[in-house]
Amino acid sequence: MSTHPQETPLKITTRTVVDMKGRGEKISMLTAYDFTMARIIDQAGIDIILVGDSASNVMAGHETTLPITLEQMIYHTQCVVRAAERSLVVADLPFMSYQVTDTGALKSAGRLMKEAGVHAVKLEGGATVVPAIRKIVDAGIPVMGHLGLTPQSIYKFGTYKVRATDSREADQLLQDAKSLQEAGCFAIVLEKIPASLAKRVTESLEIPTIGIGAGMECDGQVLVVHDMLGLNKDFSPRFIRRYADLHKEMTDAIQSYHSDVKKGLFPNETEQYG
Ligand code: KIV
Repeated sequence: MSTHPQETPLKITTRTVVDMKGRGEKISMLTAYDFTMARIIDQAGIDIILVGDSASNVMAGHETTLPITLEQMIYHTQCVVRAAERSLVVADLPFMSYQVTDTGALKSAGRLMKEAGVHAVKLEGGATVVPAIRKIVDAGIPVMGHLGLTPQSIYKFGTYKVRATDSREADQLLQDAKSLQEAGCFAIVLEKIPASLAKRVTESLEIPTIGIGAGMECDGQVLVVHDMLGLNKDFSPRFIRRYADLHKEMTDAIQSYHSDVKKGLFPNETEQYG
């Protein structure tokens, strides 16, 4: 037996990400919803894996994030948590699992932590969700906030356009960010807001901001993994950088397999048992 125990990778905690902001180290975050993708992301060294309610779109094919249930989020989170050895795992509280009562919010967050083993939860909104955040944080469950374009309110906004472009909404967002920090959030996602506003918010907070379509000055960045891998062909807003064209790679591979099967070229002698 070896006397040198294998080096365990340093686990990322909510404290780690706050400290990263303190020393000016950028934070990387990607979504995942299943074990295989989460294992690749964890082993690639990404700091935070977000089990986003975007699972409703990319995994289930819904038009919005609204239909996904708490049960479904628990299932996706269990799959991701099993894969994550180093990354911090954060899961979204789905629509209507935290807006009705603060006690309901705590129960939902508690289920994600107790039944799925998540390390923190994320929820959308400003001042109105502060009492729920306090209740969840007081119970020992870390919370990440989410401001700007909040997809659970899509029917209120009526559009996925950039938020807080006027000074009234921008000032409100800055105020909300401060309230979320005050309520105990350890980080805040800023989605689709002007880069200048994201800079103002980032400079005003001690906790990190994680941007998606919010410019270069955020403390970290998040993307939906299917978007950055080029798995979605029909969604290409300017804030997405495609690091691969997996749609093409996968289509080519699947077509090659299809063609080999049709021609009797798969399997060959070495791919069968004697
Ligand atoms: O659900 C999600 O994927 C998200 C990110 C876009 C931040 O909330």
